[in-house]
Order: sequence, then structure tokens, then C-alpha cells
Amino acid sequence: MSPEPRCAVVTGAARGIGAATVLTLAEQGWAVLAMDLAAGDPALPYPLGSAAELTGVVAEAGRRAGRPGRVRAFIGDVRDHDTVLAAVAEAEQHWGGLDAAVAAAGVIAGGVPQWEVPIDQERAVLDVNLGGVLTLARAAVPALLRREPPRHGRFLAVASAAATRGLPLLAAYCAAKAGVAGLIRALAVELAAHGVTANAVSPGSTATPILDESARLYDLGGAGDFAAQQPIGRLLRAGEIAAVLAFLAGPHSSGMTGAVVPVDGGLAL
Ligand SMILES: NC(=O)c1ccc[n+]([C@@H]2O[C@H](COP(=O)([O-])OP(=O)(O)OC[C@H]3O[C@@H](n4cnc5c(N)ncnc54)[C@H](O)[C@@H]3O)[C@@H](O)[C@H]2O)c1
Repeated sequence: MSPEPRCAVVTGAARGIGAATVLTLAEQGWAVLAMDLAAGDPALPYPLGSAAELTGVVAEAGRRAGRPGRVRAFIGDVRDHDTVLAAVAEAEQHWGGLDAAVAAAGVIAGGVPQWEVPIDQERAVLDVNLGGVLTLARAAVPALLRREPPRHGRFLAVASAAATRGLPLLAAYCAAKAGVAGLIRALAVELAAHGVTANAVSPGSTATPILDESARLYDLGGAGDFAAQQPIGRLLRAGEIAAVLAFLAGPHSSGMTGAVVPVDGGLAL
């Protein structure tokens, strides 16, 4: 058995789905290292999460955990291996080991056909959405494997309905998310004998700032316009995605590995 509390690293933690995951895990007794770039990306025309948002999430998560030190902020870029390695090392040093890694950091760009997207935007989408998950796996899986057996390590990623649907004007995003699904399936097989599972969730349209940017890219009136595409007739809340990620991080998902779970209000049907 790993010592309590169970410990997770969550990327993309300043806002949206990553922030909701930090809050949910903290409520459930996890220690969490909450990592975010906490700055804009010069390649992208919309603001990313801020340092103030990250600080606010960490404070709120500490309150919900009833223990302020249970959740710590870590500012860094998921594209940088040494930085992600340092985040994992900090989590291990503070809490004695790593039990789960959640790759939620993501960005979006497009709005024009693939061949017209500025290359630096295409690179950002691929390097954060797929490269960042690979980088987290490279840093976190060895830490998950450092736990003494019997292990119950969890590697988790946020894919997207875009992993399986061909969304016009979002080609690099679709490619990156399909890559995440493929990565999770391969990691699941590589890790199966070692007591570590790998799973992903595929959210549908969820009310977060990335969806506001998607609406702008499609020249819509706002993110709410995506609600009609989902059979449930509304946008998802970030907490609804986080609830499934927290389940996947916990002991009751032990029979699942290599799964890419739609949390999409029926969007993929
Ligand atoms: N919101 C949706 O409708 C939706 C649907 C499907 C999938 N997703 C995926 O969910 C995940 C979370 O997105 P969200 O909806 O919370 O969007 P969001 O924009 O609210 O949050 C993304 C977070 O990732 C952080 N981030 C971006 N680049 C980073 C980097 N290089 N290093 C570290 N952190 C970085 C941002 O600062 C931000 O805080 C993403 O992978 C996204 O692709 C979202």
C-alpha cells in the first residue's frame, strides 16, 4: 500500500478541466501538484491560464481539502522535459511518491484549412496537446513505477471528441488528440504487467475558455452555440469531466486500461 495521501500531478491546472480536476482530487483526499504554464503563448492569439488563476485554484483546493499544504502550484511548460521532470520530482519529494499523472494542458488553433494555418500555431497545438502528454508520460511513468508493488499507478490524459471526429478547420487539434488516444492504448499495453494503468477521457463541448476560442475560430456568437450539437442539449461543466478523471485516478477503475472514455453528452453518437 502506498503511504497516504495518494499524490497526483495535474497539468493545465490554472483553469477549466485541469483546475476542476485539482479541486475534485483535493476534495477526495489527494495531494496534488498543480502545474500550468500560467502565461500566454506567443504563438497563440488568445490568453491562457494566469498565475493568479493558478494561485486561486491552489488556495481553493487547499480549503476543500481542509489542509492548505495538500495542493501546491508549479509553474512550467509541459513541452519542456526538464521542467516536467522537476514537477514530478517535487511531488515525490513532498509526498513520498507519485500515484497519478493527469495530462490536461491543452491549446487550440485553426479556423482556416490545415494548409493555411500558421506553422507556429500548428506546432503549438501538436507540441502541447500531444507532445505535452508524451513529456508527462516520460517524466511520470518512471515515478509511478518507483512505487513498491502491488502498485495502482494511473496515467491519465484528456483527449477529445476530436480524437475520433474529423472537425473542419481544426486539423492539427484532431491529429494531436487522435495521437493521445493512440498513445494511451500503447502505454496501457506497455504498463499492463506493472500495476499501472493508462486511460483517457474524451470530453465533448465543455464550458471553458478553450471553447470560447473554438467559437471564435468558427465565427460563432459564443461557446453556447456548441450546445445544440450535443444530444444532451447543453455544454458540459468542467466538473463533470473531472469527476470521471477522479474515478479513473482512484482504486475502483482497476479493471480499466487503454480506455478512451467519452464524457461528451452523447456528441460522439
Ligand atoms: N473545453 C472543451 O470543450 C474541451 C473538449 C475536449 C477536450 N478538451 C481538452 O481538455 C483539456 C483542458 O482544456 P480546457 O477546456 O480546460 O481549456 P482551458 O484553456 O481552460 O485550460 C487549458 C489550460 O492549459 C494550460 N496550458 C496551455 N499550454 C500549456 C503549456 N504549454 N504548459 C502548461 N500548461 C499549459 C493553460 O494555461 C490553461 O490553464 C485540453 O487538453 C483540451 O484540449 C476540452
